[in-house]
Parts: sequence; C-alpha cells; structure tokens
Amino acid sequence: MLQFQDIIIDWYDKNKRNLPWRNTNNPYFIWLSEIILQQTRVDQGLPYFEKFVNHYPSVYELAIADEQEILNDWQGLGYYSRARNLHKTAKEVVDIYKGVFPSTYIELLKLTGIGPYTAAAIASFAFDEAKAVVDGNVYRVLSRVFDIEEAIDSTQGKKTFESLANELIDKNNSAIYNQAIMEFGALQCVPVNPSCIICPLQFQCLAYKNKTITQRPLKSKKTKVTPRYFVYVVELSSNQTIRIEKRKEKGIWQHLYQFPLLEFMSIEEKQSYLASLKYKFISKEYKHILSHQHLFAHFAVVEPTIKIPEDQLEIALSELSNFPIPRLIDKFWEEHSGLVEGL
Ligand code: ADE
Ligand code: SF4
Repeated sequence: MLQFQDIIIDWYDKNKRNLPWRNTNNPYFIWLSEIILQQTRVDQGLPYFEKFVNHYPSVYELAIADEQEILNDWQGLGYYSRARNLHKTAKEVVDIYKGVFPSTYIELLKLTGIGPYTAAAIASFAFDEAKAVVDGNVYRVLSRVFDIEEAIDSTQGKKTFESLANELIDKNNSAIYNQAIMEFGALQCVPVNPSCIICPLQFQCLAYKNKTITQRPLKSKKTKVTPRYFVYVVELSSNQTIRIEKRKEKGIWQHLYQFPLLEFMSIEEKQSYLASLKYKFISKEYKHILSHQHLFAHFAVVEPTIKIPEDQLEIALSELSNFPIPRLIDKFWEEHSGLVEGL
C-alpha cells in the first residue's frame, strides 16, 4: 500500500492551485502570504498579497512605511493588530537582522511577530527545513485519517498533533509535503461534507471507516460569543461635512477611524435610545461577526452638535475614503454614501 505521504503529494501534483507564494523561496514573500492567509481565505487574500508585494517589494520598504499607509492597505482584512505586528516584525528584521530573515525555525521564532505556525511555514517553504506546518487544515486531515479523539484546543492535544505531524513529514520533500497536506485539507478534506467517495485516502482513513468524520477534529471548548450593540452617529452638517475619531482602545480596530460610536448594554437599551433620537436617517441593522463577538450596529445620521469635541476631526464626505476604517463602516458607506450626500 502507498504511504500516506506519497498519496498526499500525488494528490497535490494533480489538484494544486497555482498560487504566487508557491513559486518563490523568498522568505519575505512567504511570510507576507502566511500572515495574510491567517486572516482570510486564499481567494480573498490573493489581491492583498499582490498589493503588498507591489507596494512593499522588500522588507525594507515595509519597515520604513508609515503605519497609517500599512493600515490602509490592510483595510478589509480585519484584525488590525496583525497589520501593526507586520510592521513591527519588518522593522525588527531590518534593525536586528540587517534585512535578512533568519533561516531556521528556532531563529525565526525569536522574532516577536512570528509564532510557531509562521516560523514553521517560513522554515519549510523558504529553507526546506523538515518542520511540520500545523494549521487548521492539518489538524482536520490528521484527526480524520488517524481518527484522533483528542481535542485540538487542549495543551495535550496540540502536542499530540504536532508530534504526529513531525513524524509524518517527508524529510526529503518537506516543503512540498507541507503545502500538500494543507491544500488537501483546504480542497479535499473540507470541514463539512468532504467527498470521501473520491478521496485517495478513503481506504486508510480511520474516521471514514469508523463513521466519525463529523466529530473530527474534536474541540473541548465552545468559543464564548459576546453580543455588542453599537450606534454610529453620523453628524452631517449643512456644508456636507462629517466627524470622525481615531480609535485608541486596544483591540482589533485600534488606530482606525470611525464615526463617533455609542455602545449599549442590551438591545432594549439601544432601541430606547434610537426611539428618542432625532435623526434624519437611520440605517438597517448591520451584523458583523468576529470570532468572539457579534456586533449589531446601526448608523444614525443626525444634525451636528454645536461644538466639535477635541478628539474628533471634521472632514468632507468625500474624504472618508482616505482614512482607514473598519470593514463594518466601509459596508455601510458603500451602500449609503450617496444617500447621506442627498440628506
Ligand atoms: N493557507 C495558509 N498557508 C497557505 C499556503 N501557503 N498556501 C495555501 N493556503 C494556505
Ligand atoms: Fe477526509 Fe473523507 Fe478523505 Fe478521510 S476519506 S481524508 S474524511 S476526505
């Protein structure tokens, strides 16, 4: 019988997507692609990858770039702390390593912005180190093929999967094997309803045999989701200006701009506020899903207050697109900028 590794690599040869970061050994490009792909799917990540490579062709350009510029380019990917970390890591590579990425897993891990996954990806794809890359796809494939009942979010489970992954790695072909198992998880052994009938691993897949596919991978914790109730106040003046502020709080949207924001404790509290508000226009509810939060946002267009608070900026409507803003606000603006202009 063919080895697991051979089957995966053979499948990859026949089914792989042609992706730009697979045609390079440049650790900078590989690092960029991995950070972007931790954030979004391949099809959505591609244009961002192209944009970053064009705008910042090497780690030097990224290191000396303005943070605001990087946030602008990152816009739409969410989790802006990742964009800030990207900048920080680029500076570190330039300042400490003279612009040359370290070439081993252990050295790469010393960079502040690089964790075990990214270090393994760069070490393997750029430098052919035989280090297993363990991402969500790999957890899924291994948990199913070996029908592993350990939770992937427990400390013990993580160890089990990592050591299994490192035992399985094809030492002579580690970069390709790592790409292959991730691609296999992304395209063939997908989270819901994988096509096991056409799967080349069907005859060795223990979860298929034991009918446990829907229970693999196993997770111990349910992520707790917090609902949050937002009203963005769009203070529209007769001169077609609006007010925005920069978010200072730590968190995903730090340093992005927004309309002044009110947050409520409950949906009832928000509704009673809106019922008492004198507005020119009130939007539908926008629902924005984050991993640990569900945001429920309304946008209310109102007359401006007389005095502008000192931490706010007054800008023309058309200027909003020059500022980095959260995707949630961007969605509203795409749909309503014309309407607001006409109010
Ligand atoms: N997801 C994370 N890293 C990836 C890669 N190198 N290729 C395709 N999908 C990925
Ligand atoms: Fe995944 Fe099904 Fe193939 Fe098993 S048989 S590896 S569950 S696609």
